[in-house]
Amino acid sequence: MLKGRHLIDPMDFSLDEFEEIFQLANQIIECPQEFSHLCQGKLLATLFYEPSTRTRFSFEAAMLRLGGSVLGFSEPNSSSVAKGESVADTIRTVACYADIAVMRHPKEGAPKVASIYSTIPVINAGDGGHHHPTQTLTDLLTIKSIKNSLENHVIGICGDLKFGRTVHSLIKALSRYKNNKFVLISPKELKIPEYIKKEILQKNNIDFIESETMEEVMDKIDILYMTRIQRERFFSEEEYLRLKDSYILDVDKMKKAKEDMIVLHPLPRVNEIAYEVDEDHRACYFDQAKYGMYVRMALIAKLLGVR
Ligand code: NCD
Repeated sequence: MLKGRHLIDPMDFSLDEFEEIFQLANQIIECPQEFSHLCQGKLLATLFYEPSTRTRFSFEAAMLRLGGSVLGFSEPNSSSVAKGESVADTIRTVACYADIAVMRHPKEGAPKVASIYSTIPVINAGDGGHHHPTQTLTDLLTIKSIKNSLENHVIGICGDLKFGRTVHSLIKALSRYKNNKFVLISPKELKIPEYIKKEILQKNNIDFIESETMEEVMDKIDILYMTRIQRERFFSEEEYLRLKDSYILDVDKMKKAKEDMIVLHPLPRVNEIAYEVDEDHRACYFDQAKYGMYVRMALIAKLLGVR
């Protein structure tokens, strides 16, 4: 039963519960007008302590398309947070007004703290470099819809594997499905954190290789997940400038890839995918954004327990 639950970490839900959400998302995709009043009278609060357009708009669009309403802040300096209010007090107050809350925070663990104090469901929309479970639901629904399965894939993940929270959550989730393998492409400074390697990949005997170049691994990949170098998490601008153009996916590199490989990206893109690649039939990142809205509609409906 998903009603009343929080979603903070991709491990919070079972694979059957993921499936339940995907099934509802598919029903919504097929006939959105049937769901356009599902959340009438319900209020979603968006508490964004860190900039976002995509994720916030995606949640807002999801709630509005379900007939519900939204309120919130995207600039903590314009709220009581600027007066020094704690996350615990903010959520306790917001829970008096709203039915469900979405939180993005630069500090790892902040949405978890909020969920402990909250009487309404809390959804983690990204906590620092830690997790981003609704991007993972988006990624899984996209893969399942286009590739028909969440098993037996070689997933190439390229870019900032150190700070990229979407990467950490995606690896955690895809490792739960059968026979997935990973090709992890990053500069050595931005390699996947040791805890992901040890506690997820090695512990579950999952095959993975690490590479510093795209060229030598392109032809092995079924799903290529490109990511942005996470500028805001760097300690020095110099280091960012040195690493920012480490990988650029272009038409030449796409020529080396499988004909049925798909390219995903959580967006926003900076310059890690050349615009020319957008015309390639394998570029699926804008479809992915659309799946993101539908999967969030399904998630909100499930956590609110509306039918
Ligand atoms: C991602 C994030 O915020 O982690 N964006 C998003 O939610 N779509 C990826 C990123 O910012 O690079």
